[in-house]
Amino acid sequence: MHPHVEANGRAPQSAVADGCESAAGGYDGPIPFQSGSNVTDDLLPGCRLVPLTVRGDARGSLVAIEGGRDLPFAIARVYYVFGTTAGVDRGCHAHHKLHQLAIAVAGSCTMLLDDGRQRVSVRLDDPARGLTMGPMIWREMTDFSPDCVLLVLADAVYDEADYMRDYDGFLATVAASR
Ligand code: TYD
Repeated sequence: MHPHVEANGRAPQSAVADGCESAAGGYDGPIPFQSGSNVTDDLLPGCRLVPLTVRGDARGSLVAIEGGRDLPFAIARVYYVFGTTAGVDRGCHAHHKLHQLAIAVAGSCTMLLDDGRQRVSVRLDDPARGLTMGPMIWREMTDFSPDCVLLVLADAVYDEADYMRDYDGFLATVAASR
């Protein structure tokens, strides 16, 4: 079971400040995910689908993730999103410094990633696969299945000062860093 990299397009030059509406604009359409291709390749800088080791036996399956071993960072925070209202978008922000790993441990959702130049949309639907997301990546989560539990591991505690919640401001920050 592969998560699906569903689309890849250029990011728009500007977008409405209400971030999640930016998902619709400038979205060029799907590029089918090639089953069997190297899913560990970077989707965008710092964004990578990584296989997780499943320790299974007759009783079922278990995945263990150790900071600094299965992840390139020490885990400072764990949170999970669940019970998501049908049709809502979440996320709609980027981070200045934060590194994260997201796993749909149940159900599925779509993660749209945008580095200010390119957009990639990934369907997360496999508890044995995680998505790393680094700094300066705008992300939006959509199309949550009713049973979705999205687990996120992060390398820092919650800090609102690390958030960019305005899409045009994010694009301006990307442009200034070039
Ligand atoms: P929010 O950033 O809106 O979630 P999402 O990125 O999924 O759209 O966070 C929802 C609320 O939870 C908001 O009041 C901030 C708070 N929050 C924390 O207190 N700690 C955390 O680690 C996170 C991610 C959010």
